[in-house]
Amino acid sequence: MAKPLYPTPHINASPEDFGKTVLMPGDPLRAQFIAQNFLSDAKLVNNVRGIQGYTGNYKNIKVSVMASGMGMPSIGIYSYELFNFFGVENIMRIGSAGAMQKEVHIRDIVIGMGACTNSSFVAQFGLPGTFSAIASYEMMRKAIECCEALGARYHVGNILSSDTFYSDDATAVERWSKMGVLAIEMEAAALYMNAARCGKNALAICTISDHLLTGEETTAQERQTSFTQMMEVALDTAVALEK
Ligand code: HPA
Repeated sequence: MAKPLYPTPHINASPEDFGKTVLMPGDPLRAQFIAQNFLSDAKLVNNVRGIQGYTGNYKNIKVSVMASGMGMPSIGIYSYELFNFFGVENIMRIGSAGAMQKEVHIRDIVIGMGACTNSSFVAQFGLPGTFSAIASYEMMRKAIECCEALGARYHVGNILSSDTFYSDDATAVERWSKMGVLAIEMEAAALYMNAARCGKNALAICTISDHLLTGEETTAQERQTSFTQMMEVALDTAVALEK
């Protein structure tokens, strides 16, 4: 019998432990919060390095939520293993981002139609040109419909996945902003590339936690409230993907 490819170095579970769709916050405590507050019969399926993963039910659909950790190397590992070894079809990043356009306000939702990056993650694919890291159209369309149904304030467009949170380049934000990029975060581009390489689906939905042009920031309470709305969008999208 062929040796199973799981458990993997980073996920101590088996394929039946995961639903078809995995929601992926950066923070393991957020994964725990979602499991405790939104899923019924949630079961802890992974806790390697404290990267908590849970599977439970939402509106009669089996859904998983597992943390990605911060940055592209980290989400690159977890999305690779989930797509390749655990049969996961859809990964939805749910995170925070910093706004880079005046019309994008704190607490708004930004859906990453495309993800620009300053990372070298794409170099591994050896492409003879520039790769456009894009979201799954189906996931994005369904997420937009869920935003509309919930009356959420949302924007759809390009985001920037940055390798640095603290950058020595003082004018980088201004230059990305001039190209119409809506917001900055640190994971989506690697997730989109892994999904493309694996023939799977990915989407990043972010709430704006701070504004890079105005310096506005959300309070911890506001972050929790806007996070909850984004969660509802993400979970309803997961349900819509089963139909
Ligand atoms: N940079 C990168 N990621 C972020 C930021 C930021 O300013 N704000 C929220 N996530």
